[in-house]
Amino acid sequence: MAPLRQILESLSRGPERAVAWIELVRDLTAPIDVTAPAIEFSERWAESRDVLVLAALQGFVKGADFLDRALEKGDRFLLLERSGRIRAFAWATFRDYRLDLLQTLHLAPGVAYLVYIFVYPRFQGKGVGYYLLGRLMTHLRERGCHTLVSGMYEDWEISVGLHRKSGFRIKRKFLKRRLLGLIPCPPKIIDVEE
Ligand SMILES: CC(C)(COP(=O)(O)OP(=O)(O)OC[C@H]1O[C@@H](n2cnc3c(N)ncnc32)[C@H](O)[C@@H]1OP(=O)(O)O)[C@@H](O)C(=O)NCCC(=O)NCCS
Repeated sequence: MAPLRQILESLSRGPERAVAWIELVRDLTAPIDVTAPAIEFSERWAESRDVLVLAALQGFVKGADFLDRALEKGDRFLLLERSGRIRAFAWATFRDYRLDLLQTLHLAPGVAYLVYIFVYPRFQGKGVGYYLLGRLMTHLRERGCHTLVSGMYEDWEISVGLHRKSGFRIKRKFLKRRLLGLIPCPPKIIDVEE
């Protein structure tokens, strides 16, 4: 007879072509390259007055109120501006981050999580995201962080490329599963040696 664990595994198997969520980590004590793009930007940290623009730039996936609360709780948004307009931002948090209803990422002291990075479409593919991430990592190291964690679906080719170029390595894969193909259950977590 199959062991109970094996039975549960077969009942909760994910769809054949499910895309895994990957968790990537960057050791911030290792060298950080900050190559400026050809286009010049000024840099500053976001304040409460910026949240509406930040919410709009990410298509209101998170509303302005949500971003304002995030600021109040200590999250930081590094902005790149040109002619007084926000053209790119990177959002870092230092508190436990809920990836979805069944999974929360616990952040130890000295560990930050990259919630989102965005470059305005007209400026994408010109080294801006790489520069912004390098600047963010430098700031995080200066404030005592030793690790930056990030996460995304493994088929987000551009973002995965940006992260790999910036020195991240894949640490874990989360495979989504549904009991009997219907009921969401905690993902299967696979440690990755890179
Ligand atoms: C992801 C994003 C921030 C990257 O910023 P960017 O300024 O366009 O990226 P860069 O020009 O700095 O490129 C850095 C690396 O990303 C990858 N990359 C960038 N554009 C790419 C493309 N069109 N196709 C494949 N890989 C690409 C490459 O690995 C590139 O390094 P390379 O130029 O040496 O090949 C930007 O595309 C974006 O804002 N996308 C929408 C929001 C989003 O998906 N955010 C990520 C959520 S996790």
